[in-house]
Amino acid sequence: MLSKITGCTVIGIHGWLIEVEVDVALGLPVFATVGLPDSAVRESRDRVKAAIKNCGYEFPSRKITVNLAPADIKKEGSGFDLPIAVGILEATETLVMDRSRHKTFCIVGELSLDGGVRKVNGVLPMILAAREQGISKIIVPVENMEEARVSPPGIDVIPVSTLPEVVEYLAGLVDISPIPPLSGTPLTENVEYGVDFSDIKGQKHVKRALEIAASGGHNVLLKGPPGSGKTMLAKRFPTILPDMSLDEILETTKIYSIAGKKAGESLLCTARPFRAPHHSISDAGLIGGGTSPRPGEVSLAHNGVLFLDELPEFKKNVLELLRQPVEEGTVTIVRAKMALTFPARFSLFAAMNPCPCGFYGTAKIAATVQVCRFTNMKAEFPALSWIGLIFIWKFRRSITMK
Ligand SMILES: Nc1ncnc2c1ncn2[C@@H]1O[C@H](COP(=O)(O)OP(=O)(O)O)[C@@H](O)[C@H]1O
Ligand SMILES: [Mg+2]
Repeated sequence: MLSKITGCTVIGIHGWLIEVEVDVALGLPVFATVGLPDSAVRESRDRVKAAIKNCGYEFPSRKITVNLAPADIKKEGSGFDLPIAVGILEATETLVMDRSRHKTFCIVGELSLDGGVRKVNGVLPMILAAREQGISKIIVPVENMEEARVSPPGIDVIPVSTLPEVVEYLAGLVDISPIPPLSGTPLTENVEYGVDFSDIKGQKHVKRALEIAASGGHNVLLKGPPGSGKTMLAKRFPTILPDMSLDEILETTKIYSIAGKKAGESLLCTARPFRAPHHSISDAGLIGGGTSPRPGEVSLAHNGVLFLDELPEFKKNVLELLRQPVEEGTVTIVRAKMALTFPARFSLFAAMNPCPCGFYGTAKIAATVQVCRFTNMKAEFPALSWIGLIFIWKFRRSITMK
């Protein structure tokens, strides 16, 4: 018998509804998955088989064909385990449900071998896509409940934790109440950053500059000797930015949901993100990438701050990649089979020391300052650096600590 269940996958930052067709026919016992599945989807057969058996249902010893349509889109992730399992149970008539309801619900979830439903990445964009396509109910893992709550009203989000629970719900034996949506509640009321702008002592001119940057959405370069508070100031910058709107919370949470990351304690991003990647970061780490592209640091900093501490230490090619996101607020990653655009609108913060030793322009360590002065000049007048070093060597006694 044939069963058709609606599942969902994520491409870029958008969800795509996928029809999971399961056919159980007479023949040698094989389990074939077709329709461009990636390895995680192909491996789902072992999880599905074990989960069905361990939940006390009968796994058919027949020819099972799973088709994921449309066949030209690459299907990724483990979220197809649950729709495939439900499809098999329906095709073998273990689960009997009203077929007219098939088009009204969508199922997403990974299965553990004992039939538990595990969380999947990208649930929020999936819910939004299902809502747009007129689906009225979406079954999601209970662990994804928190991010699912931010979805706008118009779709019932049903949290589930085990395969039997899903089967009983679909058969109409139990009723599971949908997750209450959060819209309308002021989400940004109790936003915690852990630090505060009022921690900064003095530095009036810098604070004023940061306030102007916060109100005008400008980028900032902080330059000063080590210990002058550059990192400290940058970390406190998001605390003076305006609260995120519901749309901004939705956008940022969507990106974190796809990347499978948490912005803070919760899966819901209500505080403006502050991303401070290490200077050894790669191109793909910064702007996003991989065979099926994932968002990078610029997208994780969307609606927040991207902080590049020790700016001159970053590789030149990595810094040049920042041009498109800074100018356009988006980043487009092109791969052989697809071109994806991720949002990347952030305030760029950079901090640097004035010279390699860090004390150029300050009168703290005179000898080091002299060396740096001449090293800096080297770029413009190569001969001068040699003269400078000879000068320091000759008069080293008179230019020690002032
Ligand atoms: N204006 C300031 N107000 C309060 N503490 C400061 C200030 N400037 C520096 N500090 C202290 O000095 C420490 C070192 O500052 P840091 O931000 O790491 O300097 P930098 O990044 O410029 O090397 C901070 O953790 C903070 O405790
Ligand atoms: Mg620092």
